[in-house]
Amino acid sequence: MAGQTAGAIRSPLPASRMRAIELQTELPGPRSRALMARRQAAVPAPLGHSTPIFVERAHGARVTDVDGNRLLDFAGGIGALNVGHAHPDVVAAAKAQLERFTHSCFAVAPYESYVELAERMNAATPGSFAKKTLFASAGVEAVENAVKIARRATGREGVVVFEHAFHGRTLLGMSMTSKVKPYKLGFGPFAPEVYRLPYPYTYRRPLGSPPADAATYRAELEEFFSTHVAPEKVACVVMELVLGEGGFVVAPPDYVAVPVELCRKHGILFVADEIQSGFGRTGKMWASEHYGIEPDLFVTAKSIAGGLPLSAVTGRAEAMDAAQPGGLGGTYVGSPVACAAALAVLDLFEKEDLLDRAQALGQKLESCFAALADENPAIGEARGLGAMRALELVKDRATKEPDREKTSAVVKRAYERGLLLISAGTHGNVIRVLVPLIIPDDDLDEGLEVLADALR
Ligand SMILES: Cc1ncc(COP(=O)(O)O)c(C=O)c1O
Repeated sequence: MAGQTAGAIRSPLPASRMRAIELQTELPGPRSRALMARRQAAVPAPLGHSTPIFVERAHGARVTDVDGNRLLDFAGGIGALNVGHAHPDVVAAAKAQLERFTHSCFAVAPYESYVELAERMNAATPGSFAKKTLFASAGVEAVENAVKIARRATGREGVVVFEHAFHGRTLLGMSMTSKVKPYKLGFGPFAPEVYRLPYPYTYRRPLGSPPADAATYRAELEEFFSTHVAPEKVACVVMELVLGEGGFVVAPPDYVAVPVELCRKHGILFVADEIQSGFGRTGKMWASEHYGIEPDLFVTAKSIAGGLPLSAVTGRAEAMDAAQPGGLGGTYVGSPVACAAALAVLDLFEKEDLLDRAQALGQKLESCFAALADENPAIGEARGLGAMRALELVKDRATKEPDREKTSAVVKRAYERGLLLISAGTHGNVIRVLVPLIIPDDDLDEGLEVLADALR
């Protein structure tokens, strides 16, 4: 494999180049180990982490730990760092805002940056209709607000979601999430009126099932509305066009057209959860643009504010206005510091041509992953959209039995060689790449070299 991947991955790094990865100690080093002991005593065990190193500083796609080891980051804080760690423009905008005021609560005394960001999100998201935007902090808060908005706008209660979906960890978010372990086990009872459709996971469509085409999809969805919930009782269908936690499965356009059309027909709001797929990750600003759809409500978070906590619901003005005054809100809904950072992020997309960069990155990752899949029988499928790329690992290509153990071993081997990677998938058998879009080519090549090595 080394020979073959040489072309695709090992664009030979000049010997003179300073490598991004520089390890001073074994990993984890002594300081990280000492902190881990304190962490174990002070922080609950169920709050997991995939790598046991403690961060000291991070810039771009490079992370330095408390022992002075420099690692490459292909996880991007789970997709929250499309503009990279501590981008100078983001830091400057947040600093300037911190010096002016840190918090007033938008519900007590509003501020301009919130309004300006709402205007820009309304303009930047798909949909030729009048829009409004509400901000919150965590992604799951935006998901919950989207459901509240949809319920008030339609006067209905039903929420339709998908298998393999991840929408967050609060009661409603968890109820909408599909993966049972670890996200739901023992945390019920769950919120009612949540109904689940199969996701168009073409790689894992049951053996012997009819070929997946538009007619098959339509028949399945119509059957669902006869056997699970009446469409006139459904407020919204919430969908990740590319599954995030579920393993970067890309919904086929033929499929997506069907729920979108049925939503129109039955007065249901179509909600795109673009928390992981948004902000340039797929090579366009939003995954929805690849499908040519205009979601009624649009949920974003993660990379919106370059690593500061912020989330948003953007949607049809009449739906966003439907609830009673005071029905939407909270203390930290749209922190002025995060709003300032988010305005800087939107500027960066123009200033640094980040969408072009995302497309180039996506093409490179795609050809590199295809080459890896050609040579490595453990890779059942290499897939993704733009720079949202993943490898699904299986024990056997014929049976497609998920290989969770190998996936964990690859993540561990990569981290021991200085590359931060995370897995995904309902069966924990997918390696996903959420590398900052601003990563220089040499650093990307170096990280891919480590990944290829870890897969051996
Ligand atoms: C698609 C999607 N929706 C919702 C969430 C929840 O976001 P948060 O963890 O910020 O609450 C996530 C987080 O991974 C996500 O990927």
